[in-house]
Amino acid sequence: MSKILLEQFEQHLLTNLPKSESFHPIFENALQDMLKAGGKRFRPMLLLSIVNAKQSLLCNNAMPVALGLEMLHTYSLIHDDLPAMDDADLRRGYPTLHKTYDEVTAILVGDALNTHSFNLIANAPLSNDSKIELIKVLSSDGGIKGMIIGQAIDCYFENHKLELEQLEFLHIHKTAKLIAASLKMGAIIAGLDLQTQEKLYQFGIDIGLLFQIQDDIIDETVSAEVAGKTTNNDASKNSFINLLGLDESINSANTLAKKCEKSLNSFDDDIKNNLDPLLNKYLYRHK
Ligand code: IPE
Ligand code: IPE
Ligand code: MG
Ligand code: MG
Ligand code: MG
Repeated sequence: MSKILLEQFEQHLLTNLPKSESFHPIFENALQDMLKAGGKRFRPMLLLSIVNAKQSLLCNNAMPVALGLEMLHTYSLIHDDLPAMDDADLRRGYPTLHKTYDEVTAILVGDALNTHSFNLIANAPLSNDSKIELIKVLSSDGGIKGMIIGQAIDCYFENHKLELEQLEFLHIHKTAKLIAASLKMGAIIAGLDLQTQEKLYQFGIDIGLLFQIQDDIIDETVSAEVAGKTTNNDASKNSFINLLGLDESINSANTLAKKCEKSLNSFDDDIKNNLDPLLNKYLYRHK
């Protein structure tokens, strides 16, 4: 992954933190805390890597969209950690928002980051046609056709074992679709043809599924201190670990990683060279 691109993204984030000036004593801080806390920035970097591969001069114009994507993802984490959902105390190395402040604040910060992500995209210096497509993709894959229905199934079926096919549906929706959308959004900004957009999207579904298997392995094998988030927290979940066991989950991850490496080779050199470091950094750990 381009270190410079990541640094540019972090700089853009810091200079464009959401503001909500009022006499509320803590809301604006709460709004910014989880964005400033870091994280891998995997989704915005996927988007920017595609733009960089194909239309590098548009990287600056793509920054607000990359930030919007990271904001929507950050909102999903803030809500995911609430007591009503996963009830987690630690996120990105810091106490979760509902621990630092209260549940009302965490719910409203999530709401705010969700809506503000679309405000950023609508105001980005890109063509209106591109922006409509970007908003369609993010609202769908980050919404009821993707992350939301995934999260709903994840929580509704706690302590109810799903079939393997249903487990895949769950993880494709809660995680893979937003990751696939990230690549597609990069392709939309770069003006790539529909066939390439769709090919990147399908590739994103595979890497997204792999990402969630790795995340389930992290929950089982990594301490909260190292992961920077509450782990050993999936006991009631339809995680890959609970359905397949650790060894079989690692095997599945390895098989899917091989498939992803092969698929990546079917893209042209620009895309390959831009995505390869990012995927190597976060996806292929259990080889
Ligand atoms: C965590 O996402 C939630 C999942 C979908 C697995 P990340 O692992 O990308 O979290 P950050 O952004 O690095 O904090
Ligand atoms: C959450 O999955 C995926 C989201 C849509 C936020 P997890 O619940 O496994 O994510 P972590 O492990 O808390 O980061
Ligand atoms: Mg969850
Ligand atoms: Mg969680
Ligand atoms: Mg997890």
